[in-house]
Amino acid sequence: MTSQPIQTDQTDKDVVISMRNVVKRFGDQTVLDGVTFDVRRGETVVIMGGSGCGKSTTLRHMVGALNPDEGTVEVLGRDLALLDEDSLNGVRKQFGILFQSGALFNSMTVAENVALILEEHTELDASIIDMMVKIKLELVDLRDAAEKYPAQISGGMKKRAGLARALALDPEILFYDEPSAGLDPVTSAAIDRLMVDLTHRLGVASVVVTHEMDSAFTIADRMVMLHHGRVLMNAPRAEFEALRDWPVDQIGALDESKQLIRQFLRGDAEGPMTEHREGSDSSYAADLLGIDNSKLTGGRSVQSTRGARESGETGFWRGIFSRQVQKGGK
Ligand SMILES: Nc1ncnc2c1ncn2[C@@H]1O[C@H](COP(=O)(O)OP(=O)(O)O)[C@@H](O)[C@H]1O
Ligand SMILES: [Mg+2]
Repeated sequence: MTSQPIQTDQTDKDVVISMRNVVKRFGDQTVLDGVTFDVRRGETVVIMGGSGCGKSTTLRHMVGALNPDEGTVEVLGRDLALLDEDSLNGVRKQFGILFQSGALFNSMTVAENVALILEEHTELDASIIDMMVKIKLELVDLRDAAEKYPAQISGGMKKRAGLARALALDPEILFYDEPSAGLDPVTSAAIDRLMVDLTHRLGVASVVVTHEMDSAFTIADRMVMLHHGRVLMNAPRAEFEALRDWPVDQIGALDESKQLIRQFLRGDAEGPMTEHREGSDSSYAADLLGIDNSKLTGGRSVQSTRGARESGETGFWRGIFSRQVQKGGK
């Protein structure tokens, strides 16, 4: 399979997510301002942009945790805003979502964590579930850690376990929010390779939110760059690469928005978006893109500090998190 499956001649049946002119306001702040793009089967779309530009909000619309004030979000042929809770949950069964920490239940082994999803959502016999768990752990190369508890495994292994769990129900679409947050570069590169490999092998669509450029350029078939809640650029990875590598002495040939994107792509690759260093040009990037500099510390996404608010209007994320607390406290 080619790593660039996006062609203009592809038919609409390949579209699994379609966002059309999505507007979302929180109070008097317009967070999404007419977002339009598609995601197709077999491709990895990376949504990127500075902190606060609307990446996570976009993702939350795609999983039906938020409804748009204007515009539509169609996922697997259904307009999510028109679905009742049961139908929405039916659509969500076809999603795999990888949370930042893997969000594993600490009181359960890796295998039990994966099995739980199958027990909750299927009527399968224990022996079949057992076998399916082995298959999922094999996919993420984690068979040997099946009987380990989350506290006994590394950050990278936790991500793999989270991924195995996300894959448990054979999803059509995988969602990741900042998948390499908190990982060292080597581990993060390994997770990137695994994500690319799985997307192509399983033929799923993957949507990845990240502000880490190295990772974005490794995994993306296509990139969607957001800025102040608008799509600044939506193009195959190669076009973004060309822009990133655009020679500085020919910069005048680029229009203003392309220059902005080039700056973002180059600046971020050098680290100012992910680590706030004295004397770095992070304040420039912040200024340019309207990013809150105080959020650019430690390579962590701002999302982890906003758990309560991220819970979402429909209670979907809250449901998952509160269940985690219950199970964890057993
Ligand atoms: N539930 C909410 N209520 C109010 N403001 C929100 C909410 N969710 C996000 N925001 C605001 O919307 C903007 C975009 O947030 P988000 O999509 O999380 O950005 P990011 O691109 O960093 O993921 C930010 O200014 C954030 O503070
Ligand atoms: Mg975010």
